[in-house]
Amino acid sequence: MSDAKPIQERTLAEQGAATSEGIAALFAEVRARFDREAAQLTAGDLAAWTALRNSWLGRSSGVINAIGDNWLKPAPPEQKRVVGKLLNELKAHVESTLEELRARAEAAGAAGAAASSGADLSLPGLRRALGTRHPICQTLEELERIFLSIGFSVVEGPEIETPYYNFEALNIPEHHPARDTMDTFYLSLPKGSPELLLRTHTSPMQIHTMERQQPPVRIIVPGRCYRRDNPDSTHSFAFHQIEGLAVDTDITFCEFKGTVEYFVREFLGPKTRTRLRPSYFPFTEPSAEVDASCFACDGKGCRICKHAGWIKLFGSGMVDPAVYGFVNYDAKRISGFAFGMGVERMAMMRYGISDIQLLYQNDVRFLRQFV
Ligand code: DAH
Repeated sequence: MSDAKPIQERTLAEQGAATSEGIAALFAEVRARFDREAAQLTAGDLAAWTALRNSWLGRSSGVINAIGDNWLKPAPPEQKRVVGKLLNELKAHVESTLEELRARAEAAGAAGAAASSGADLSLPGLRRALGTRHPICQTLEELERIFLSIGFSVVEGPEIETPYYNFEALNIPEHHPARDTMDTFYLSLPKGSPELLLRTHTSPMQIHTMERQQPPVRIIVPGRCYRRDNPDSTHSFAFHQIEGLAVDTDITFCEFKGTVEYFVREFLGPKTRTRLRPSYFPFTEPSAEVDASCFACDGKGCRICKHAGWIKLFGSGMVDPAVYGFVNYDAKRISGFAFGMGVERMAMMRYGISDIQLLYQNDVRFLRQFV
């Protein structure tokens, strides 16, 4: 028998290994040989890696299988356990080392490919800047937060409306002069189809909501509106409003005023004072404009408030009983208030923006200021 035969091809008995120590010493020898061969592998040389794997884990000629055949199988029963355990350990070591080497070889191969293609992997990666929410969105969310905190819910409605919901049911009959300030876009539809328009305010949702539900109603309606206005620093043909409506059996002007004052202090700061100024809207009676003490001069008078000390915020009032007639509410039993504010206007007030058009131009130099 030749000693040149590798040890995994001779049985343990042939090698005189009868004790656990002797067997462990043989395993250690094989393991050291594997470690030497693995250390000699050139990173990135996948062919050499494959050869190493075949010579250790290959089915027919692999060292691990040979040990199974020549050491484990013929071993006497009392040695089987220890040989099996050591063989498993050796196999796990070989497998995990090969796995690591493969990952390294592949990475080195990829780096080599990148280097030969001229890509510089040391350059910083492409950073995609995180977007920010648009100031109109931020303002809408703040307005919603305030009203949600005092029991209002948010509802939304269609931007395309019938003249009935946009005008008539809000007590604005055809030929009423109030329509002049709210000229809008009409859809071009085949002759004979019912007229449809882009809503000029969010007020139609007052009607939709009251048609669908009985009092109590406490809603706000954020949404986009349209008017045939020429663009300037305070006008746009598309803009946003938030409508508010509270109707119940016991709502008085006091609730109305208290709610409005609470809202103004929450939105513009606790020192802000509120003023209700008589006004006119067809769907409220009495109607009021809500003014706030000027945020810039605190009411003393400055250029921003045109030396009035007050700035107009939004329109409002107690719901006109005529409106209840359109939704079959009992005007003798119930009462309520409503308001409608321009979201852009509120955003401009709050952030000191002087031109509404800036809100639509998507210039990142402008938008970046609202991070
Ligand atoms: N819809 C009105 C407009 O767009 C704003 C408004 C005023 C809404 C008074 C209301 C209100 O609900 O009570 O000009």
